[in-house]
Amino acid sequence: MQSYDNLFYGRRPDLCEPAAMIPASNSTGAAAGRDLVLQVRDLQTHFRTGGGTVRAVDGVSFEIRAGSTLGIVGESGSGKSVTSLSIMRLIEAPGEIVGGEIIYRGRDLVKLREKEIRHLRGRSLCLVFQDPMSALNPVYKVGKQVAESLHAHASIGRQEAHARAVDLLRQVGIPDPERCANEYPHRLSGGMRQRVTIAMAMANTPDLLILDEPTTALDVTIQAQILDLVKGLPDATVLLITHDIGVVREMCDEVVVMYGGRVMERGTVAQVTEEPQHPYTQGLLDSIPHGGMRGQRLRAISGSVPSPLNMPKGCPFSPRCPRAMDICATKPVLKETGDGRAIACWLTEES
Ligand SMILES: Nc1ncnc2c1ncn2[C@@H]1O[C@H](COP(=O)(O)OP(=O)(O)O)[C@@H](O)[C@H]1O
Ligand SMILES: [Mg+2]
Repeated sequence: MQSYDNLFYGRRPDLCEPAAMIPASNSTGAAAGRDLVLQVRDLQTHFRTGGGTVRAVDGVSFEIRAGSTLGIVGESGSGKSVTSLSIMRLIEAPGEIVGGEIIYRGRDLVKLREKEIRHLRGRSLCLVFQDPMSALNPVYKVGKQVAESLHAHASIGRQEAHARAVDLLRQVGIPDPERCANEYPHRLSGGMRQRVTIAMAMANTPDLLILDEPTTALDVTIQAQILDLVKGLPDATVLLITHDIGVVREMCDEVVVMYGGRVMERGTVAQVTEEPQHPYTQGLLDSIPHGGMRGQRLRAISGSVPSPLNMPKGCPFSPRCPRAMDICATKPVLKETGDGRAIACWLTEES
């Protein structure tokens, strides 16, 4: 059951005039525009530190279609979390969104006033973090916290809010939801806590659910259960951030491969994982186990992520790239290849 009252200021986006919903510069046409929940265009989020400017997100673009799951994958320090925090407008000083647009349902989140973005957070846009304890208050029982996250809370009375909270806990697969509701967060396992934060995020049927490494802190079995839970959310539009390209393959429709704050490659999961064009994507794929390689060592990408204050001038991956050429000292631009994918690599430019 979809409740529409928590979408954009109570207006059903599907009933708004196309002109109000679709930015003038959208070249993909009205039909496709209505289907788009989010368009990130040339996003730049920088941190001005004592040591210099960290270009944590340096010209990132992607789109998320209604009902689809988009993955952002990349090693630690690639700019994935800063991208998700930028969408939520949760970047704090010395960080700042210094360029680009984040078009949500036709409106640029970058330009919204604090009051407007606060209204969307937790209702239309929800972010689940890697560490569930960061979203849970240790001194309140779980049921109360889930009930508090219901925006209808004020108007439905305590008992009904509690009943809805228990129902949400049941929906996220918590075996004894009544008992769980009466526990404090520290009494739950990490997997159960993450289920609780997903229940809180789902409380208001958000229009866009962002999950930032939701299973990184969990063991493999629990990780699979949480991913199954996310997969089973009906009609959800999801941005799933992970360092694990195996998770992307299992969960996502489309994927953005990030490195050094930039998009290396972008496309459908089949395109990117079956026919990777960028050496970085290739490296990520080589570092996951696959059938027929029992006993073999996995090949990690050699070298390490460069210091954010000392990024190479050209392609950020070039110092580690097995196929680097002289021209890689100049930044390759992200180019659409015509089949719906985009790649930022001189190798594809040359061919
Ligand atoms: N508050 C901050 N101050 C300075 N640099 C930051 C801050 N937050 C993130 N960064 C830098 O931004 C880059 C991207 O970070 P992040 O988005 O957290 O990476 P990921 O989530 O992909 O691991 C990193 O180089 C990180 O050091
Ligand atoms: Mg992160």
